[in-house]
Amino acid sequence: MKALILSGGKGTRLRPLTYTGAKQLVPVANKPILWYGIEEMVAAGITDIGIVISPETGEEVRNKTGDGSLFGAKITYILQDEPAGLAHAVKVARPFLGDSPFVMYLGDNLIQQGDLKLFLAQFIEKQPDALILLRYVENPSAFGVAQIDGDGNVINLVEKPKHPPSNLALVGVYFFAATIHDAIAQIKPSLRGELEITDAIQCLIDNQKQVIACQLEGWWLDTGKKDDLLEANRLILDTYLEKQVEVQTDSQSQIIGRVSIGEGSQIINSTIRGPVVIGKNCYLENCFIGPYTSIADNVVLIETDVEHSVILESAKISRIHQRIIDSVVGQRAILGAASRRPKALRFMIGDDCQIELT
Ligand code: G1P
Repeated sequence: MKALILSGGKGTRLRPLTYTGAKQLVPVANKPILWYGIEEMVAAGITDIGIVISPETGEEVRNKTGDGSLFGAKITYILQDEPAGLAHAVKVARPFLGDSPFVMYLGDNLIQQGDLKLFLAQFIEKQPDALILLRYVENPSAFGVAQIDGDGNVINLVEKPKHPPSNLALVGVYFFAATIHDAIAQIKPSLRGELEITDAIQCLIDNQKQVIACQLEGWWLDTGKKDDLLEANRLILDTYLEKQVEVQTDSQSQIIGRVSIGEGSQIINSTIRGPVVIGKNCYLENCFIGPYTSIADNVVLIETDVEHSVILESAKISRIHQRIIDSVVGQRAILGAASRRPKALRFMIGDDCQIELT
């Protein structure tokens, strides 16, 4: 069994963060989203992992993630030189996959940890041509949508339909036998110009191959947008964070609940109410850090109140006299009050930023 993790794409819905980096490397609870997928594979016993990368962000993904030794896996990088669809990515990965069965995992998706091995066991036991994961959603038009019969066989699949036949969305995790390659060879690009994996699975069904579905009961997030990223951050902190304070805090500071603080960080006269993760070498003075906040390495926060937010590496925030909530602050961003006159707001805002002031 091999794994194929897709880590290409432009990440347009996470701009501006994705102008300077891959969407799959945006951290959730201070760990790149992509790494959760890799860990999930390894936990299910799959250690031969191919990662499909794009020319734009591939080097960054490769440099950060490495050869797999960080995870106890062997990682092979596969370049997809154009964003021509998920089925196209499988085509490009054929030399790596050979005729092995494999699990395909979209690198910006997060599923509840521990679930993958249960579905893998189903796939191995029933030996279908494909096993897909489905989850009930309120907005099926944003996803691939499936119709299933009473025995859990998939009878129809359609990608982002205007009139969805059900509320069962295709989660970005698929198990395939080698027969998927013949199906991919038979499909044509969709209206959006991509070779859709959804169409390839439909082609399996049309050729009387067995496609079965399992319903995911645990949570699933496609972290492609800001609010989903914040929700993923909340869920991961809520479920997995353990208290781990590796620094001394001063007597004026209060650390309440599950809070993890990395080496070299200084906490001065501040209250931190978990779950909160703070990376290495951060400096916090006169701050309140509320639940569901992740602060990456080398961040400086002075007289700042923040909760339910993600602050990326080396950002600096000082003397904002209102609480910051539901926010994502990019790497090296600087946000602060200036003492010079005239009293005014002064911005240097990058493309596609979103700022809400009261
Ligand atoms: C892709 C798939 C879609 C699936 C979704 C899950 O869509 O094409 O069928 O439901 O991932 O995240 P995309 O995110 O590429 O638009």
